[in-house]
Amino acid sequence: MKQRLEGKVALVTGASSGIGRATAVRLGREGAAVGVNYRSDKDGAQTSVQEITEAGGRAIAVGGDVSKEDEVKEMVRAVVEEYGRLDILVNNAGIETERPFLEMSLEDWEKVVAVNLTGAFLMCREAMRVMVGNGGGVVVNMSSVHQRIPWPHFTHYAATKGGLKMLTETLALEFAGRGVRVNAVAPGAIATPINREKLDDPEQRAAMEKLVPWGRWGEPEEVAACVAFLASDEASYVTGATLFVDGGMALYPSFEGGE
Ligand code: NAI
Ligand code: BGC
Repeated sequence: MKQRLEGKVALVTGASSGIGRATAVRLGREGAAVGVNYRSDKDGAQTSVQEITEAGGRAIAVGGDVSKEDEVKEMVRAVVEEYGRLDILVNNAGIETERPFLEMSLEDWEKVVAVNLTGAFLMCREAMRVMVGNGGGVVVNMSSVHQRIPWPHFTHYAATKGGLKMLTETLALEFAGRGVRVNAVAPGAIATPINREKLDDPEQRAAMEKLVPWGRWGEPEEVAACVAFLASDEASYVTGATLFVDGGMALYPSFEGGE
């Protein structure tokens, strides 16, 4: 594979599984040295690291919770200490919980906001301080089709993804003169652990396929390929953009009832 990211250093949050793992592996295969962040699944992170190193790349596992300021500082520090710089940040860590709105507790709301939105803010601020010092860099935020498609019972999740859109666009403007590009990727239905329940139930699995014009679930590698493009110099004139990776899902969202 073409080494588009040779000499670059990347940090991918939530990279012990799913899209984060596929992204870390892809960036590693394209030549970047990768910090593989995990919160609690150290073994999962080690598996991602191993996949990268076995393919001839460089990677380390970096523990830390993206919603905790001190842990975020430590994560960025560890990567810079190991590899001397930081060029690419992928804010991939994210969680969701199903909650009818009238039953949603403040704790439910705050948990999702803390990881999906505050986590991205903390990571961006810390990493961009380093990037600006390096003369530039790239941020890719993992948004969702739900930055555009409202999602009943997942109000907190949809609100965080809508928030990520504005975080992306505002930072793209604020840092346009300082060499930092900021973009987002918005996946549709991707076969990862976050969708385990739906994937394991043939009816739910098929129902999702009906919502996707392309007629199938996406693979994490298909998202990772788009992150790698945005992270590379091939996207040198792209900033503030959201790239939908959704088999057309966001083009024609069908609302299937409220309750
Ligand atoms: P996943 O559940 O495998 O990945 C989420 C990762 O985030 C896990 O590795 C988890 O350990 C990590 N994480 C959770 N809280 C964290 C914290 N506080 N600090 C650090 N890491 C933390 O599921 P998936 O699908 O790979 O999700 C990755 C991202 O993609 C999420 O932001 C999700 O919202 C987004 N996404 C996923 C879609 C899908 O259909 N799978 C569609 C659209 C967006
Ligand atoms: C969610 C998935 C969901 C997909 C399509 C993603 O943002 O994380 O659980 O299947 O959107 O609705």
